[in-house]
Amino acid sequence: MPAIALLGAQWGDEGKGKATDLLGEQVDFVVKFNGGNNAGHTIVVGEEKYALHLLPAGVLTPGVTPVIGNGVVIDLGVLFSEIDAMTARGVDCSKLIVSANAHVITSYHVLMDKVGERFLGKSKIGTTGRGIGPAYADKMSRIGVRIQDLFDEKILRAKVEGALANKNQVLVKVYNRKAVTVDSVVDELLTYADRLRPMVADTSLLLCQALDAGKVVLLEAGQATMLDVDHGTYPFVTSSSPTAGGACIGSGIPPTRIDRVAAVVKAYATRVGEGPMPTELLDAQGDRLRDVGGEFGTTTGRPRRCGWYDAVVARYAARINGVTDFVLTKLDVLTGIEEIPVCTGYRLGGTVLDEMPMTQTEFHHAQPVYETFPGWEDDISAARSMEDLPKAARGYIEALESISGAPMSVIGVGPGRDETIVVRPLV
Ligand code: GDP
Ligand code: IMO
Ligand code: MG
Repeated sequence: MPAIALLGAQWGDEGKGKATDLLGEQVDFVVKFNGGNNAGHTIVVGEEKYALHLLPAGVLTPGVTPVIGNGVVIDLGVLFSEIDAMTARGVDCSKLIVSANAHVITSYHVLMDKVGERFLGKSKIGTTGRGIGPAYADKMSRIGVRIQDLFDEKILRAKVEGALANKNQVLVKVYNRKAVTVDSVVDELLTYADRLRPMVADTSLLLCQALDAGKVVLLEAGQATMLDVDHGTYPFVTSSSPTAGGACIGSGIPPTRIDRVAAVVKAYATRVGEGPMPTELLDAQGDRLRDVGGEFGTTTGRPRRCGWYDAVVARYAARINGVTDFVLTKLDVLTGIEEIPVCTGYRLGGTVLDEMPMTQTEFHHAQPVYETFPGWEDDISAARSMEDLPKAARGYIEALESISGAPMSVIGVGPGRDETIVVRPLV
C-alpha cells in the first residue's frame, strides 16, 4: 500500500490536525515528520477539544500507531507532559514510537531562541520561542543531541559539552546571560531516558516494513509550504521542510512510495509571526475573519493575521508538493460575506504575475489582483455533500479548484470530525 503525505498549503493552521483525524480510521500509522512543539493542531471530537503539539493527530484514533519521525525536534519535557495530559483524558498513548535519530530540543535551545529573537529587534521572525531554530541549527552544524544519545551517558555528556562550548561564549559575551552548565542539561535529559527507551525504534525500517505488509502510512506535516526553510518566505520561515520532499527526509520513506499528496488549504489566508502576506487585511474585514474563524494560535495564543484566499500561493504549493488533492477548510467562516475576493495574481510595477515572484523583495511589494465571487447567506455547517451547499458556495469551490492547480477533494464546513464533505476519498 502507498504512503500519503498530508501537509499545509499556506502559512500553517490550515486544519491539518482535523484532516489527519478524519482519515484516522483508514490508516495504520500517522507519522509526524518535521518541526516540533511549534505546531499546534486543534481537533474537535464530539464535545471534546484536543490541542496537540508533539503527538501526531493519529493518537486520537484507537488502532493507529503514532510515530515521531527522525525529522522532528523533540522537547522531551513537553512530550511527556502532553502524553500525561492526554492519558489523563483517556487517550491511549502507549503505542507511540519515537525515532532514535530525532533530535532533542534542550533548555539551551529554548534560551537561544528567545534571546536571539530579542537581539534581532525589529528584524525578528516572530518564532514560537520553542527552541526550534537553534535545535535544527545544531543538527545541521553536526553538534546536535539525538534521542539515541540519551542511552549512553558518556556520549550524551560529550555532545552537550561540545554544543555548549561555543554557545556559552555567545550567551555570556553577546547576550549578557549566565552560562549554562553541562551538568544541569545532562541531568535533566537523563531523567527521561528510562521512560523513553521502550518507545524508541528505527522508524524508517519499521515504516517501510509496514508498507511492504500492505499497511497505510499517513505522513502528517507541522507548519506549511510557505514556512518551508527552502521554499517559503525566507527568512520568515521555520527551520524545517514541511513540504512533500521533507516528508521523505523526515520519515525515511522514499519518494517512490508516496503516491498521494494532500494539501490542506483554508478558504481564506492566515499567518502568525512576521513576514510578507500579500492578501493581509488590516481592516474590519480582517477582524471579521479572525473573530468568526477563531483565528488565535493554538500554541502561543497570538492573533493570526487574516486575509483573502491567495491562489498564487495555492498554485505554488501545488507545484512544490505535487499536490494530488486539496482539503479545503473553514468554508463556513465565509458564510454571510456578500462578495468574496480571491487573489489571482500579483501586480508588480506595470506587470501582473500569476506565479510566485523570484525574489523576496518582489514578494514584499506584490499587490494582490482580486477577482470577486458571489457569497452566500445560509448556514452550511450541516452540508454533507456538494448538493447540500448553496449554489454560490459551490461556485466558490469550483472557482478555487480551477485556479489552484488540483481538485478540492474534501471540504470542511465546521471544526467537528463529521462537519466535512468528502467529494473524493483520500484513502
Ligand atoms: P493545524 O495546525 O493545521 O492543525 O490547524 P490548527 O488546529 O492550528 O487551526 C485550525 C483551526 O480550525 C482549529 O481550531 C480547527 O478546529 C478548526 N477547523 C478545522 N477545519 C475547520 C472547518 O472546516 N471549519 C471551521 N469552522 N473550523 C475548522
Ligand atoms: P502548525 O503545525 C503557524 C511560524 C511562527 C514564526 C515562524 C518560525 O500549527 O500549522 P519557529 O518557532 O518555527 O521557529 O517560528 O513559523 N510557525 C507557525 N505558524 N502554524 C504553525 O504550526 C507554525 N509553526 C511555526 O509563528 O512565524
Ligand atoms: Mg496550528
